[in-house]
Amino acid sequence: MTDFQSAIRETAGLIEDALDHFLPTQDGPLGRVADAMRWGALDGGKRLRPFLVIAAADMFDCPRVRSVRVGCAVEMIHCYSLIHDDLPAMDNADLRRGRASVHRKFDDATAILAGDALLTQAFEIIAAEETHPDGAVRCAIALELARGAGKAGMVGGQMIDIYAEHKDFDLAGVTQLQRLKTGALIRFSAVGGGLIGEASGEEVAALAAYAEDLGLAFQIVDDILDVTEDAETLGKPAGQDAEMDKATFIKLFGMDGAKSKAAELVDSAKARLDRFGDAAGPLKGAADFVFARKN
Ligand code: IPE
Ligand code: IPE
Ligand code: MG
Ligand code: MG
Ligand code: MG
Repeated sequence: MTDFQSAIRETAGLIEDALDHFLPTQDGPLGRVADAMRWGALDGGKRLRPFLVIAAADMFDCPRVRSVRVGCAVEMIHCYSLIHDDLPAMDNADLRRGRASVHRKFDDATAILAGDALLTQAFEIIAAEETHPDGAVRCAIALELARGAGKAGMVGGQMIDIYAEHKDFDLAGVTQLQRLKTGALIRFSAVGGGLIGEASGEEVAALAAYAEDLGLAFQIVDDILDVTEDAETLGKPAGQDAEMDKATFIKLFGMDGAKSKAAELVDSAKARLDRFGDAAGPLKGAADFVFARKN
């Protein structure tokens, strides 16, 4: 196992345990939404975003109890985005992380509410004093997370993604779509790690530059895998982007063009970390993983 593989396995274990704690089962009518939240958030996924939070925060010797909370918050928002992305009104996907998507396991209304509840609980976790004793730090993280998740971030990107179906989007258009729908939460992850670790403004800016390149590379690779892999490998439906005529780098530049763009972005992402020296090894490993992954 590579250093990166054992590092992400370790942080994924911490995140799984913390999410299990934050998302208990419940009796009575709320049990259904609690179960749907657990179905959508536990036991699956690469946990890349929390890895980025924790690896960035580690560079500044941040206690893991703090960075794990920020990692859970962004993972909850990511899981909510997947639950809603899979709904019939959006990508209409039956499979997620190798099992039934939340609306297929439960129903549409429960999936919508489970997503809403994960989104709000993420901010509850950030706002709580256990995340950081200094309220200004918690507030700065909440501000970045709100920007990354909302209309100027993930939600905005999802809107453009739907709008762009069956249209000819140019490079600037596809880049903006992908920076928002996927890049914004990945950017938050590295920046949030810096903020919880009390990094300087310049250090946070370097983390942001790294994650902007990485986030775009991540979505280009997601679009490549949608073409090259099958549903079993992906754990989610394959071939959906062509079916729905989504705006992707592949539609613009073909498979080879998309691959070389992703490789370029991964190299550029790693170069943004040079100021951190050896401490940036895990974040550089994450960039290589984004390019090499098969799901
Ligand atoms: C899938 O994200 C959705 C995109 C933003 C492309 P991931 O590939 O990180 O999904 P999980 O969390 O590993 O399931
Ligand atoms: C969705 O992009 C990104 C978000 C959920 C914000 P995709 O629709 O390409 O993600 P997958 O392929 O279903 O995971
Ligand atoms: Mg989608
Ligand atoms: Mg989708
Ligand atoms: Mg996809």
